[in-house]
Amino acid sequence: MDRRHLIRLAGLAAGGTLLSACNESSAAIHAGHGPHPGGGTGDPSTPPVPFTVPLPVPPVLRPSAVVGGTDVYDLSVRSTTTEILPGVRTPVLGYNGRFVGPTIRARRGRPAIVRLNNGLHHPTNVHLHGASVAAASDGHPMDVVEPGRLRTYHYPNRQQGATLWYHDHSHHMEAEHVYRGLHGFYLIDDDAERRFGLPTGRYDIPIMLRDARIAADGTLAFDPADPFVQQTTLANGKPQPVLRVAARRYRLRLLNGAIQRNFQLSLTGADMIQVATDGGLLPAPVPRTELALSPGERAEIVVDFRRSPVGSRLVLADTTGPVLAFDVVGAAADNSRLPAKLRPLPPLPRATTVRDVTLSRRPGQATFTINGEVFDAARVDARIPIGTTEIWRVTNVDVDFPIDHSLHLHLVQFRVLDRDGVPPAPGEAGLKDTVAVPPGSTVRIQATFTGFKGRYVYHCHYLRHSQLGQMAQFEVV
Ligand code: C2O
Ligand code: CU
Repeated sequence: MDRRHLIRLAGLAAGGTLLSACNESSAAIHAGHGPHPGGGTGDPSTPPVPFTVPLPVPPVLRPSAVVGGTDVYDLSVRSTTTEILPGVRTPVLGYNGRFVGPTIRARRGRPAIVRLNNGLHHPTNVHLHGASVAAASDGHPMDVVEPGRLRTYHYPNRQQGATLWYHDHSHHMEAEHVYRGLHGFYLIDDDAERRFGLPTGRYDIPIMLRDARIAADGTLAFDPADPFVQQTTLANGKPQPVLRVAARRYRLRLLNGAIQRNFQLSLTGADMIQVATDGGLLPAPVPRTELALSPGERAEIVVDFRRSPVGSRLVLADTTGPVLAFDVVGAAADNSRLPAKLRPLPPLPRATTVRDVTLSRRPGQATFTINGEVFDAARVDARIPIGTTEIWRVTNVDVDFPIDHSLHLHLVQFRVLDRDGVPPAPGEAGLKDTVAVPPGSTVRIQATFTGFKGRYVYHCHYLRHSQLGQMAQFEVV
């Protein structure tokens, strides 16, 4: 760890004052005075009335240019303010000034370029989570964009349709940056999937779930020393919003964008039919009564509101309480379908290497490790010949003081072979890039390392853990 990073960490430990120190807008925070639409009083300590604020749907970003069949998108990172609680201005970071960044809708087979403009006073970068991209465009933690600089990322979009997301990945700052708003959706549309007839357009909605804690002065509290205090759950940046839906089918793309909590979702009054995992469609729809999402994971569900009478309300809830309500407000034409079969999974090639990956906290220290080591950018933890297939046995040994971990691999989509020897549930049997690894369990995953050579990271997606060392590198050679 170099000195700059130690200073940064010290800044974080001092109560997360680093960002506010370089965020001009924080000096001008004003908590408004009620009453406000949404039932807020402008007082951060008064919880807003549930289900009064509409669920925002992040706008789809238009390319700023199209160059020879490549769409060019501009993302500028800046500090801004947003209204998370009604009537309260909260300083945040945002891609193009949005707390949940604009959605990029790419098309399979059509490359995209993202030009990242760093308007912050400290380094940032962007990682396209779930994507197969060249190492130079992957947003490696040590590969950052200095303040005032512009950086071009190339995304080939060769993989199948999927709900991906982009977020900051700058070393030692990723947890705080993502927490403060550097996250957005990146969807790959795939012509080959049109035949399934799933809901499209305004009936296809990305929903980012996460949490936050708004301090009395309206700022986002980020306290690495106390990770268990972020209790306001947000859907697309708002607490307990409501989505007015028609009595028809919807495709909902759920993402856990939180840095330190999992979601255990249920929906009263309707079935959640899971159709996709992180990396794309499942071979067949899977009805779910409960849906668990660890940080970074996605699940797509189809919900058919036709069975709910107009005027009814359905609530998507987590174990901590309601997250989002759906108010069925009227009828609508629906020519979508939910076929019994979706996209078949490719056969599993034979693996040639088995690796053990152990996730743990270093006792007595605020560091987290993979195979006993904290991240070292100068160290390559696994050298993998390109095109080969490996099985990784991932174990969470934090049993005595139980801590949840997860594992996310850059570059590849993997498959879950088993959890403690038991084959994965059908909802986890698809393409994955992030997997929950609860205390004491061993998850075996299999990946084929194709596409690009170079160095990529793998890490726990509880971002405070990865920030505190639970990250390692593989090099495809
Ligand atoms: Cu979602 Cu390495 O990141
Ligand atoms: Cu972890």
